[in-house]
Amino acid sequence: MTRPNATEIIMTGPLMAYAADQLKARFTVHELWKAEDKAAFLREVGERVRGIAGGGHIRIDGALFDALPKLEMIANFGVGYDNVDATEAGKRGLVVSNTPDVLSDEVADLTIGLLLSTIRQLPQVDRYLREGKWLKGAYPLTTSLRKRSIGIVGLGRIGKAVAHRLEAFGVPIAYHGRSRQADVPYRYYPSLVEMAADVDTLVSVAPGGASTHHIINAEVLKALGPNGIVVNVGRGTVIDEKALIEALQNKTILSAGLDVFEDEPRVPAELIAIEHAVLLPHVGSASVHTREQMGQLVVDNLLSWFDGKGPLTPVPETPWTKA
Ligand code: NAP
Ligand code: 8YV
Repeated sequence: MTRPNATEIIMTGPLMAYAADQLKARFTVHELWKAEDKAAFLREVGERVRGIAGGGHIRIDGALFDALPKLEMIANFGVGYDNVDATEAGKRGLVVSNTPDVLSDEVADLTIGLLLSTIRQLPQVDRYLREGKWLKGAYPLTTSLRKRSIGIVGLGRIGKAVAHRLEAFGVPIAYHGRSRQADVPYRYYPSLVEMAADVDTLVSVAPGGASTHHIINAEVLKALGPNGIVVNVGRGTVIDEKALIEALQNKTILSAGLDVFEDEPRVPAELIAIEHAVLLPHVGSASVHTREQMGQLVVDNLLSWFDGKGPLTPVPETPWTKA
């Protein structure tokens, strides 16, 4: 709907009504993902658009920026913003914001659930009962979290929330990242392959993008070994999915619990065929409570920017210093 004299923005994907209604109350909102001919749609409205509420699978990069000459701000729905070329945005003086912190506890809760589900095979055990197999005998014994040691890949906001929860389970925790962090009690490994050799469970909460692309590869999986479990809630591109499938098929590692995949929402048939893996359709933050918090932060970033108060949660690539 066009609101007279209202700032015009684009939504690149559907947002829950909770957030979309607030945007529509303040802005003229153009729903890009609904347009069959996106190029024609952009030719029609592009000249007037000053903001983007980002979500969905449309890439937000130089090509889109070229079509929006008056663009000022991109408010991404999600803490991960590998769908946005934030470096190119920074070069053009465009502000990018994301949704940090408000989802960390939710995603960490899901990570623990996925870890335990993978180790104790909860989805498979549930199916066993429903299929009437319990009547014929007990489910086979599973592996255990007991005696496991965990290596976290990407000890950031979510990684720390996962580590905090894991402390209560009494398992040793290590981490890998590009730099050692002061004030964390866990062992630091500058080398991911060395950490994989020393632990038996990897939990990846690392972001996507070029610097993490396929850092969990065949060499890392071999180092993890036949008792190894990989849990990934960060981004699918962090793991070489082909190497992971081979490692699961060849029993190079024991199992995997995955919430994210290389080419979402497409999941390779070979992975789906691996009965003992646990596969979730990217639901880490997917509760009503947390998606509302994320949506609110998208709205608040746009409102703050267009009220002249700056972005609330700019990403590091954005050239912005708080006054
Ligand atoms: P964050 O606070 O920025 O933490 C990211 C961590 O990754 C940092 O500790 C960073 O440490 C590490 N890292 C970055 N680049 C790396 C590299 N090249 N190699 C190794 N480690 C690297 O982000 P967050 O808020 O915890 O979110 C993390 C990610 O979780 C998001 O980017 C998103 O992809 C994913 N996520 C998924 C879901 C879901 O639904 N499954 C939900 C929310 C978020 P160094 O800087 O020391 O390397
Ligand atoms: C969202 C996420 O599901 O915040 C992130 O980085 O991966 C999830 O919370 C996703 O961004 C929404 O598309």
